[in-house]
Amino acid sequence: MVEGLAMEFRNRKGSVPLVMVTAYDYPTARAAEDAGVDAVLVGDSVGMAVLGHTSTIPVTMEEMLHHSRAVRRGLEKTLMVVDMPFLSYQVSVEDALRNAGRLMQEGGADAVKLEGGAAVADRIEALVRAGIPVMGHIGLTPQSVHQLGGYKVQGKDPDAASRLLDDARRLEEAGCFALVVECIPEGLGAQIGRTVSIPVIGIGAGAYCDGQVLVMHDLLGWSYHPAPKFVKRYADFAGAAAEAVRQYASDVRERRFPAVEHVYFPESGERVG
Ligand code: KIV
Repeated sequence: MVEGLAMEFRNRKGSVPLVMVTAYDYPTARAAEDAGVDAVLVGDSVGMAVLGHTSTIPVTMEEMLHHSRAVRRGLEKTLMVVDMPFLSYQVSVEDALRNAGRLMQEGGADAVKLEGGAAVADRIEALVRAGIPVMGHIGLTPQSVHQLGGYKVQGKDPDAASRLLDDARRLEEAGCFALVVECIPEGLGAQIGRTVSIPVIGIGAGAYCDGQVLVMHDLLGWSYHPAPKFVKRYADFAGAAAEAVRQYASDVRERRFPAVEHVYFPESGERVG
């Protein structure tokens, strides 16, 4: 862990937009660090992007720890934020402390992220008092997808927008060093950014946030779920992977692989067969 990275991140509001991306294992962590992003999120989106679930709800603490340790091995200088999975903080402040502590001690997290507004402020206060940097997450909170009635844009009417602004203020007051806002109208994203003094990192929240976050597999085009409107795909890893495996299968079937450069010979021997 590199001390103070979360506080450095907080202090960078208002300069160049901050860049965060998810990572779930050693190669995705290395890609993020080599690209020089400002923060890596071990998101509970691992459940959908990597584990094949249809939501983030089945993801467990043990799975988050497993993926966090792999990401930690791939990062030297980049802030690593780890998501607290469903039911690891909702039940009690004690649970929140114990589980956030495990993500730091056993998973190597520099900071944790949890979903929710004013309703989870007491948990955030307790974590911050214990010395754990916390990133908030409001707007579309995927762990509440069943309560929200699906993956829908949030904060569209004036009452809902004003509740989100109140939540953002309350999370800043509780001690969050940054805030993710997901799937809200662009103007509201900008308004939240002007309302709080901590960085507001948007995903589907428009161009005027203090930074952006995307799911690694979405931006790589390695996702098998329909992509939301806010995703920009920078590559076609799914297509490239299937094509590479197709070529390998064809080489094996046509006996083009292994070729002479891929096989071993005895000292005096020649290729037989
Ligand atoms: O789990 C995740 O990837 C997230 C981002 C969508 C912000 O929480």
